[in-house]
Amino acid sequence: MNLDIVILGAGRGTRMNSKIPKVLHQIGGNSMLSHVLNAARKLESERIHIVVGYGAEQIKTEFSYDNELQWALQADQLGTGHAVMQVMSRIDMKKPQKLVLVLYGDVPLTNSSTLSNLVQQANENKLSLLTLVTENPAGLGRIVRNDLGEITAIVEEKDATEEQKQIKEINTGIMIIPATKLNTWLTSLGNNNAQGEYYLTDIVAMAAADDYCAISAMVIENENEVQGVNDKAQLAGLERQFQMNNADQLLKAGVLLRDPSRIDIRGEIETGSDVEIDINAIFEGSVILGNGVKIGANVVIKNSKIADNVNILHGTNIDGAEIGENSNVGPYARIRPGTILKENTKIGNFVETKNAIIGKGSKASHLAYIGDAVVGENVNIGAGTIFCNYDGANKHKTIIGDNVFVGSNSVLVAPVTLADNTFVAAGSSVNSDVPADNLTVARAKQRNIPGWKRPTKK
Ligand code: UD1
Ligand code: CA
Repeated sequence: MNLDIVILGAGRGTRMNSKIPKVLHQIGGNSMLSHVLNAARKLESERIHIVVGYGAEQIKTEFSYDNELQWALQADQLGTGHAVMQVMSRIDMKKPQKLVLVLYGDVPLTNSSTLSNLVQQANENKLSLLTLVTENPAGLGRIVRNDLGEITAIVEEKDATEEQKQIKEINTGIMIIPATKLNTWLTSLGNNNAQGEYYLTDIVAMAAADDYCAISAMVIENENEVQGVNDKAQLAGLERQFQMNNADQLLKAGVLLRDPSRIDIRGEIETGSDVEIDINAIFEGSVILGNGVKIGANVVIKNSKIADNVNILHGTNIDGAEIGENSNVGPYARIRPGTILKENTKIGNFVETKNAIIGKGSKASHLAYIGDAVVGENVNIGAGTIFCNYDGANKHKTIIGDNVFVGSNSVLVAPVTLADNTFVAAGSSVNSDVPADNLTVARAKQRNIPGWKRPTKK
């Protein structure tokens, strides 16, 4: 492998107005740096180096799961050229064809296919630039060409003449450089410019002056792929763009989105056929939606698996759960981690479940808390039922058999077991086991006091 990849991410990102290092700001629920890394990992490279400075430890911790990454510290951020200098000693120069691909940690949406196209045409005798022609070149490095159309330099906006500022072709920052030449050029880099920085872009003029080095530019069409993030407005803009891409993919896959501009995917989503998604749905982590699933408005689903023909009604929140076929959940249900609903279940409004397995055909239609429970088949949990799973120190389990009916406003004080076919009278407070086929009435006996006079106001 002749390629080393260098990702620059040492800058603080002052204009983000944040204590979080710039490359850790997120697009679609993942840091910008992780997007860049994902694209980089798809290329065949010997090593991926990341230059960090501001917030270095925080960044390294976030990526500590990947011990193949090579971290380089740029203690003072003296410019992009200076940043690349920090990794040169780690690049194996013995390979004469060695190439270095430079990426920016704050340019998150580059497709790996764009990068591999750039890699494919690169070789050890040329400097390959990825450029963009844009109506809004403000703030970016301009590509300077001579009368023959050959690239002679990149000039940063702050150093550009009025004439150069008119140039519409800009440096995306992404480039491939022969390693040995890069090494030589970096040693003669100066910082005599408007920002007093060691600009990586100054190597382009050096390449132009080198008879043994050509310069080529691949002009990219899609501006979003090379859009950098310097402030929150750009972050929000790219977020929308990213979500529009997600929406397009879902629509192409046959998912019906009521409004493609009102969906957010912050992770991975897998969808079956004939899925319908209403407005403002948010999907986080890894979500699987089976065939014929319908998702109502304002639903949030995280790390969950929803089986075929399930209806999730509006305002429902599902996290770390499995919902079985043909079930109905919501509106306004809260399904918390460890919930497994078997097929044909119904969880209605203002019902909260946690660490609960609910059997086939069972229902909790209104206002209940079901925690640390195993509920059998065809059970009816009445409105206002509370599973008292917590004694103030420890959690305990409630076990309910098949065909059980729990009357409204009951309290099941765990640990407790209701065997098959039991019937709990409304308003019961059940704290000992109920044998099969029993009715349990666990409430104070009603007394009627005749001739009762209301207290009067003094
Ligand atoms: C840079 C380019 C400019 C290009 C633009 C594209 C230079 C001199 N300029 O400008 O031509 O049009 O990107 O977005 O290269 N970084 C470090 N260490 C440093 C300085 C920066 O690691 O000392 C990192 C930053 O964290 C960031 C990237 O390099 O990820 C780009 O830095 P930034 O300051 O945003 O460069 P621009 O001014 O945008
Ligand atoms: Ca930038």
